[in-house]
This record gives sequence, structure tokens and C-alpha cells, in this order.
Amino acid sequence: MQDKLYGGRFEGGQDKFFEKFSESLHFDKRLFSVDIAGSQAFARALESVGILSAEERGTIVHAFGEIAVEGRAPGYFDGATDEDVHSFVIRKLKEKAGAVADKIHTGRSRNEQVSLDTRLWLRGAIEETIDAAKALMGGLLELAEKYPSAAVPGYTHMRRAQAVLWPHYLLAYFEMFTRDVERLRQAHARVNVLPLGSGALAGSAFPFDREAIAADLGFAAITRNSMDVSGDRDFALDYMHAANLTMLHLSRLAEDWILYSSEEFGWLELSDGVSSGSSLMPQKKNPDSLELIRGKCGRVFGAYSALFVTMKGLPMTYNRDMQEDKEPLFEAADQTIACLRMAAIVAQQVTLNPSVPEKASAESWVVATDIAEALSRAGLPFHQSHKLAGRLVLHGIKSGKNPAEFTAAELAEFDPHFTTDFVGILRDPRNGMATRTVPGGTAPSSVARALGEAKERIGSL
Ligand code: ARG
Repeated sequence: MQDKLYGGRFEGGQDKFFEKFSESLHFDKRLFSVDIAGSQAFARALESVGILSAEERGTIVHAFGEIAVEGRAPGYFDGATDEDVHSFVIRKLKEKAGAVADKIHTGRSRNEQVSLDTRLWLRGAIEETIDAAKALMGGLLELAEKYPSAAVPGYTHMRRAQAVLWPHYLLAYFEMFTRDVERLRQAHARVNVLPLGSGALAGSAFPFDREAIAADLGFAAITRNSMDVSGDRDFALDYMHAANLTMLHLSRLAEDWILYSSEEFGWLELSDGVSSGSSLMPQKKNPDSLELIRGKCGRVFGAYSALFVTMKGLPMTYNRDMQEDKEPLFEAADQTIACLRMAAIVAQQVTLNPSVPEKASAESWVVATDIAEALSRAGLPFHQSHKLAGRLVLHGIKSGKNPAEFTAAELAEFDPHFTTDFVGILRDPRNGMATRTVPGGTAPSSVARALGEAKERIGSL
């Protein structure tokens, strides 16, 4: 085991088991490059308060630059026994720059350093998550434009409810992912605050210009309380909450498409490229890509719970428990980004067979609400319209007739409220759809407008 960043106070070495139990290098090495970037900025700050000469600062910043490049080589971390990435990087600096490296940790604590590194890393991860979400949203819009006038049954309680345009259905997911991107941006704003200068918990004893360090590292603001910094992981949880909702939305999309591509529905055809076969049953084409997206929710939601519960009831300020933040955070980001990318590929390659959902609409009574509403438009109070339309549905079901099979004469005979206009409403669900012209409704004019707006909105997200 390497020298620790402390030691003067200790007489005995660490128990071998404890050493292994507590090391974090095998996972926090992901913070290697941001740890170096943060330390380079800190070296400049140390120069500004007179701890480092310009020459010393130059030596340190240069050495860090070389270490950053060397770190990209495979096997760079092999055999390292340092406690964590911060200790590792400082050892490397000592090996390269010699005695001057002993000054780099002046007025700094790992408690603020770990907050700084995690924030720097998370800024990048949030940007990647947003990019992946936007790529999927673009894919959904393209898929909408491939079938601009396809009509599909919309469901409530998993029962055919009312017909909607296929682009209208996809735009619903566009809205969910829009909110996700907004939440991710809000999380980014919380993450993008400089903690450096907080010391271990009481604030640094050196008069750093914290605003200048923030500007150096691209942070929008500085934290306001040193104790809060040492004990805070809200910023990680904020991201993970946004990621959880993104995964939740992905799981619903995955579930829909698993159903819609099943033999029972048969509307969607997933590409071979995102499907798997069966080792036993030769005919199978399974939607594994979507099932894995749905399944990975378990890991991402679990990661959130893990960190959330770890933070509960911790006394002020830093406690080593908090080292347990990184694995769940990395896990949440990795899986969310991967699932967004997977979903974008599925969306890009999926095909819709519009005649199947159209037949499903025709064979059901998705026009029943349109009938009731047309009756009320002609003056009948809605409760009576509802009852009359319901009676017609029952009659159709009992006599084995689809809505489109009713003639004007049969309708008039059933009830004189059914004028000839009703033949059209029963024949094609699109006629009812066309009445839903409110903003947010599924009338073709509203959907075309919404689609146009969505294409503009994605640019400014
Ligand atoms: N590796 C630690 C973490 O990830 C940071 C070190 C702080 N350790 C300490 N004993 N104060 O939280």
C-alpha cells in the first residue's frame, strides 16, 4: 500500500483487510482527468495567494498535463494500491515534479476535492445524457413524419378508447423527454457551482479568490457555506432523480413497443438488428433491446435508492459513508445514457404497418365518443347522448356489426337522432379525430402544428 496523505499521527499501519475494504481507486479512477483539471486550477489559485511561485506553479501544471496524457495509456492504474484517485494523482505528481508536489494540497481537503471532482465529472455526464435524450427525441419526430396520417387506437386501461394520429402518440413521448431535458438542465445548474475553498468543513485559511477559481473551471457560481459543501450530495441526487424519470419514460415506451410489436398487436416491426432469437424455438424474434431498457430501470432506480438512503441521517458534515456515492452515480449515468442511445436506434429502425391498427379501430367502438359528442353538438344533453351512443354500441356488439357497417336507414330506424351525418362518423374514426382541434388535441391540423413546433423546440432545448 502506498503512503497515505496523512500518517504523522499514526503509529501502526492499517489492517490489510481494512485497507482493501476502504479503497476507492478501482472506481473513482474515473475522476482521474477531472481531478487533474481541478488541481491545475488549484495550483494557479495557490500562486495567487503566494504559496507557489510562478515557476513552481508552472512546474506543477506542466507535470499534471503530462500525467493526464500518460493516464490514457492502457494499464496505467495496474497494480496501484493508493487509497483513492486523489492520493494516486498526488503520488504521480510527486514522482514527476519532486518536492514541490508537497505544496499542492495547501489549504485544501479531499472533502471539497471529491465534491469538486464529482461536479466536474457530472457536468459532462449531464451534457451527454441531454444529447442522448435529444437524439432520441429527434428520432421520434422522424418516425412521426414517416407516417403522418396513420391512425391508431389510443388506450386507457389497456382497452381501445379513442383513435389518435400516430404522430400524436409519439409527441406524447416527446413531451415526457422534453421535461426530462428540462430537469437535467436544472440539475446541471445545481451541479455547476464551485465548492473549492471550503476546506475540510470550516473554509480555507488561505484567501483564495473563489470567483476567479470558478471562472477558471467554468463554474457559474460559488457555494455559500463550507459545512454544507462537505456534507452535500444533493447535486448527485438531483441528477439521479432526473435520470430516474427519464428511465421511467423509456420503460413505458419500451413496454408499449414490446406490446405493439407482438403477434397479438402486430402493428410494429422491430428491426432484426435490435432483436434476438431463441436457442430452442426457431420462429422467435424477441424484443430484447426494449426488454433490457425496461429491465435496466431496476438498476437505475436502485442506484438512486442506494445513495438516497446512504445520505439519510448522516451527521454534519463529511462522513466516509459518502464515498458510497460514486458507484451508484456512475451506474445511473452509464445506464441512462446507454438506454437513451439504444432507444434511439430502435426508433430509427422500427416500421409501422398502419393497416393493422386501422383495422383494430374499425373493429372496435373507438368512435363511440365521437357519436355521443356529435349528438350533443346537435342539441341532445350529454348524459342522454352518452346513453344513446352506448345503446348503439351494445346493439352493434350483440348483432356482430362493426360501426362502419351501419347504413343510414338502420341508424335512423334505431333512433331518429341519428341523421345521415352519423354514417360518416361511424365509417371513419378520422372524422371524429378532425373535431379535436384544440391545442394539444389529435385533429390533423393541431398535430401538424404541434409537430412543427416540436421541431423548433428541440433546437432550443
Ligand atoms: N475517497 C473519499 C470519498 O470519496 C474522499 C476522501 C475523504 N476521506 C476522508 N477520510 N476525509 O469520499
